[in-house]
Amino acid sequence: MTKGRIGILTSGGDCSGLNAVIRAAYLRCKELGYELIGIMNGGRGMAIRPMDYVVFDDLVSDRFLLKRAGSIIKSNSKSILQYMSHGSTEVDVVKNMIGGYKDLGLKGLIYVGGDGSMTMLRDLIDMHEDFKVVAIPKTIDNDLSGTDFSVGFITATEVVANALFDISTTAASHDRVMIVEVMGREAGYIALYAGLAAGADVILVPEFKYDADKLLESIKKTHDKNGCCLVVVAEAVAKPEDTQGGVADSFAKFIKNKIGLDSRSVNLGHIQRGGDTSVIDRLIATSFGVRAVDMIDTDDFGKMLCYRMGQITSIPLERIADDLNRHITKNDYCLEVAKRIGVYIGEH
Ligand code: F6P
Repeated sequence: MTKGRIGILTSGGDCSGLNAVIRAAYLRCKELGYELIGIMNGGRGMAIRPMDYVVFDDLVSDRFLLKRAGSIIKSNSKSILQYMSHGSTEVDVVKNMIGGYKDLGLKGLIYVGGDGSMTMLRDLIDMHEDFKVVAIPKTIDNDLSGTDFSVGFITATEVVANALFDISTTAASHDRVMIVEVMGREAGYIALYAGLAAGADVILVPEFKYDADKLLESIKKTHDKNGCCLVVVAEAVAKPEDTQGGVADSFAKFIKNKIGLDSRSVNLGHIQRGGDTSVIDRLIATSFGVRAVDMIDTDDFGKMLCYRMGQITSIPLERIADDLNRHITKNDYCLEVAKRIGVYIGEH
């Protein structure tokens, strides 16, 4: 006889650390006497008929899930509408999700997602008071406000920092400027944190405009001194010229044309969403998973978990959804540190 059922799903772009959340939620559910249900493919598993879900068993307590990237219950970053039968509307999706929640007999749902999920959840809980959720922030972009770190960011940063080191050796052997493009959508956290952790010479983030002349001067100065230059550029940074291809390609051509230095571009792409979950992410993910179950157990719903200054706290979803995205500000300590050691990081 169980105490009841709790659901969990992972929504949006995946990242490393999701399986650690699931494992922790399962272990805590087991301690408290709940059954844990994994909804497949994000919200889709609850919106389609028949529903798509798994009832977890002890296989999920495997410690190797602590570091395995991806999501064992899959995720989806497309609108659920694309998966529904032809002619479905958003109203059908919402109706099915709420109906699915009830049919599964859930005491609460742990919704692991990014900014899109948080807005959607805020609206859903507003309209349907029986829909009880606790949200867990995950995104490699780290662009969710309310929390210092979202699940997946630290691992992505580590993956990028390691790749930057690997690229720096060939840059040095060939006296090249290497421009490395990283993800992050409209935020520059991955570029700034990984760039600083890997000793990049130039870090360009969308939050701060660069001055083309100062940028070239800085690259030339570093190249003259060290024989190479490592540049990290976030994907949303404006191209220096209107060229075909990605932003890193554009910078490589620009640098070659303007100051004649041999330049190459690398786009790290989706490897940033993989990699063994870092220790910090395992700790954050495990703490979030445990706390989410505890909150559901004590009827503490409608909140997103946060990691702030080493503590796990929570914030009401309506507050987070009004001020959803965060960006690097002039007060970010990494920005200050980078500037103080001579890294060119744009104008601010
Ligand atoms: O939000 C996570 C993220 O990896 C962004 O950094 C990136 O811009 C985007 O998702 C890529 O999305 P997709 O996997 O759909 O190409």
